[in-house]
Amino acid sequence: MKKLRTIQKNNRLKFKNRKIVLGVTGGIAIYKSASLLRELTIEHGADVQVIMTDSALKFMSTLIFETFSGKPVWTSMFSDREAVGVRHVEISKWADAVLVSPATANIIGKAANGIADDLLSTVICDAGTKTIFAAAMETGMYENPILKQNVKRLKDAGFGFIDPEYGSLASGTNGVGRLAESRVILHSLLTHLNSGSLKGKKILVSAGPTREWIDPVRFISNPSTGRMGFSLAEAASAEGADVTVISGPTEVANPVGVDLIKVSTAEEMKNAIVENFAKSDALVMSAAVGDYTYPEVSSEKLKKNGSDLTLILKKTDDILSALSGDKGDKIIVGFSVETENVIENSKLKLNEKSLDLIVVNNPKEKGAAFGHDTNKVSIIDRKGTVEELELMSKSELSTLIIDRVSNLLNGS
Ligand code: CTP
Repeated sequence: MKKLRTIQKNNRLKFKNRKIVLGVTGGIAIYKSASLLRELTIEHGADVQVIMTDSALKFMSTLIFETFSGKPVWTSMFSDREAVGVRHVEISKWADAVLVSPATANIIGKAANGIADDLLSTVICDAGTKTIFAAAMETGMYENPILKQNVKRLKDAGFGFIDPEYGSLASGTNGVGRLAESRVILHSLLTHLNSGSLKGKKILVSAGPTREWIDPVRFISNPSTGRMGFSLAEAASAEGADVTVISGPTEVANPVGVDLIKVSTAEEMKNAIVENFAKSDALVMSAAVGDYTYPEVSSEKLKKNGSDLTLILKKTDDILSALSGDKGDKIIVGFSVETENVIENSKLKLNEKSLDLIVVNNPKEKGAAFGHDTNKVSIIDRKGTVEELELMSKSELSTLIIDRVSNLLNGS
């Protein structure tokens, strides 16, 4: 509860001030629409008007959708007082986007052929390419050539379309047709809504920890989870960038909408970054790269032998310093982890590593740095200006950092 209040105060929730029509149609995946709506409104701050079709009402009542949207659900062109009063045109003008989830073969067919015979299809007809469909159906229906033509028609016309995934279906079989995961749907919706300030730009993001192996069962690493880097990557992708992520070993779910390259050691991370840097417009270096490696990795497990163990570690290459000669007009954002003389030490890193921005973390601050969903940072720019930010979710912070990258790339 406390966390939600902090985030709302920050006013930077992913879908804050976004007006969405959620069109719910009659497919078995409808049960997922209620939690999708909850994420949109309660977690991400969207203002949502739900429209259910007649078939949707056969599967579920309006109650749960009214609870999570805080508004009456509209179900009919002519009988709902609100719908008649506002009319379909006003609903579609009000909306920043119309998300249809689940989208059955029927609604896809209607939209692709300009049919407007109920409230939802009429709203889609007026909203046009503001509409995005999250398809879900049996494999046979999805593979039907007419459905394929309808999907192509919608995509070609500029409608948003989220392909279904492979998985177990209501019929008990496995195949393509399963509704995409909610985080994929929300990412696609956000991308559809955003201005595309990074369209045509290639952004390289490093994330997570590295591991320096000692023997086959032990390594030296750090507590980085990769959440910050993955969140930055998704924020850049949601602004239309072509994103490549170089990630150390992590347990968190892979980021959506990006190319992911998995590495383990600092040397592997360096090689992957060097290989991708030349073709990138910006590098956001949020990985916690190990500073030391053990050069004599044992091929067998080291035995205790009853005595203490002394390891002589060798310094790894500093990746950012290695890239500074090839910087050109690329934008480079570094991250700094410091526990004392935080700002002074970070300013030194900004200059020594030729960075445009440095994001400063102090793991001693509550909710900051490793292992949290939140972070509390300061951002320092090339002029030495320090912007101290309040505690916020990593997702909010990512949006803010990617905004700064976009401004730098676009010269503003
Ligand atoms: N970094 C890097 N290569 C390394 C180590 C760090 O490119 N071998 C990058 C990090 O990804 C980060 C920035 O350098 O963007 C600062 O990392 P940080 O760990 O804060 O500082 P270090 O430069 O490693 O210096 P120190 O550990 O002494 O604070």
